Amino acid sequence: MNVLVTGGMGYIGSHTCVQMIQAGITPVIVDNLCNANKEVLNRIQALTDVTPVFYQGDVRDEAFLDHVFSEQEIDAVIHFAGLKAVGESVAKPLEYYDNNVNGSLVLARAMRKAGVKSLVFSSSATVYGDPASVPITEAFPTGNTTNPYGRSKYMVEQCLSDLFHAEPDWSITLLRYFNPVGAHPSGTMGEDPKGIPNNLMPFIAQVAVGRRAELAVFGNDYPTSDGTGVRDYIHVLDLADGHIAALNSVGAKAGLHIYNLGTGQGSSVLDMVHAFANACGHDVPYKLCPRRPGDIAECWASTEKAEAELGWKATRTIAQMTADTWLWQSNNPNGYEK
Ligand code: NAD
Ligand code: UFG
Repeated sequence: MNVLVTGGMGYIGSHTCVQMIQAGITPVIVDNLCNANKEVLNRIQALTDVTPVFYQGDVRDEAFLDHVFSEQEIDAVIHFAGLKAVGESVAKPLEYYDNNVNGSLVLARAMRKAGVKSLVFSSSATVYGDPASVPITEAFPTGNTTNPYGRSKYMVEQCLSDLFHAEPDWSITLLRYFNPVGAHPSGTMGEDPKGIPNNLMPFIAQVAVGRRAELAVFGNDYPTSDGTGVRDYIHVLDLADGHIAALNSVGAKAGLHIYNLGTGQGSSVLDMVHAFANACGHDVPYKLCPRRPGDIAECWASTEKAEAELGWKATRTIAQMTADTWLWQSNNPNGYEK
């Protein structure tokens, strides 16, 4: 099977390409490198002995996509490409709607022209907003999102659902990720955020390696076990395997398929700080700070639907997530920059 992977040079996309190659699937990468480094191709090659075909270009460029589809026999598309920083999306809504919503529409149009009608889309647990309870099932209401990034994911879900209802020969899979963390256990691939990390795990990793002085813990007055926010952290390789399971089980079946990709376990900010200290062998300094606007108290997935229908379940533990992140961060303190 040949799969076009948009955003395949990014954090989740690069790990998914490695797992795909090891599962006998051929990725063809499209990425404009706005948040990625070309060194990723060498790292994929070193792990798999395969250098994926790579097209540098933008998913909003329809002529470029037409060219890619004309050169490659593509069976399905995984669409990772997009912008993902919540805070930045508030400051730059037009850029976010253009990249994430318009980019997805242009891609779907190019797919239809090329006769490729199997699409797996990177959605997010953010579409559930502040859930009434946990664990969150796929049947929970969506759309009560609090920022342009979240709304862009919700809008794309709506657009793709409307497309499926108009053209029911499509296979459209919406994968709602919870909190992807971790790195390849080889220590050669991982998350490489530009500037100050927005997310917890890369921030902790940069504190642990001495690039930053201390972690700011955003809020210790939530109604949770230790007062800090609780999330469902999932190892990026489990997430990658979830995409392969989706391609293999529903990717060729016409339908609108929706799955949570999470572990079903919640961990607090302080749980993650302590787990990371165990992994790196020293304390991770932190200070307790006010809540971050827009954050919710707790969020974790019901995993039953993915288990039953995709035959997929996350297996990697928090200890593995922190150990793999530490190996990546300590071997590559400046990420992919040499
Ligand atoms: P990432 O930034 O590492 O990867 C995205 C990739 O897309 C980058 O390589 C970037 O260069 C590329 N890209 C961006 N806009 C593009 C465009 N217009 N044309 C071509 N390429 C473009 O992010 P990631 O963490 O790997 O996330 C992948 C997807 O998963 C995103 O859609 C993101 O919104 C979604 N997601 C991520 C998380 C998370 O916490 N990481 C959670 C839920 C959903
Ligand atoms: N946190 C801190 N300090 C930090 C960063 C985060 O205490 O420096 C806390 C947050 O308050 C939250 C938890 O760590 O309680 C996790 O925060 P992240 O920013 O890592 O993740 P979020 O759950 O806020 O958001 C992530 C992705 C979004 C996605 C959402 C749901 O960043 O893109 O998961 O999938 F929409």
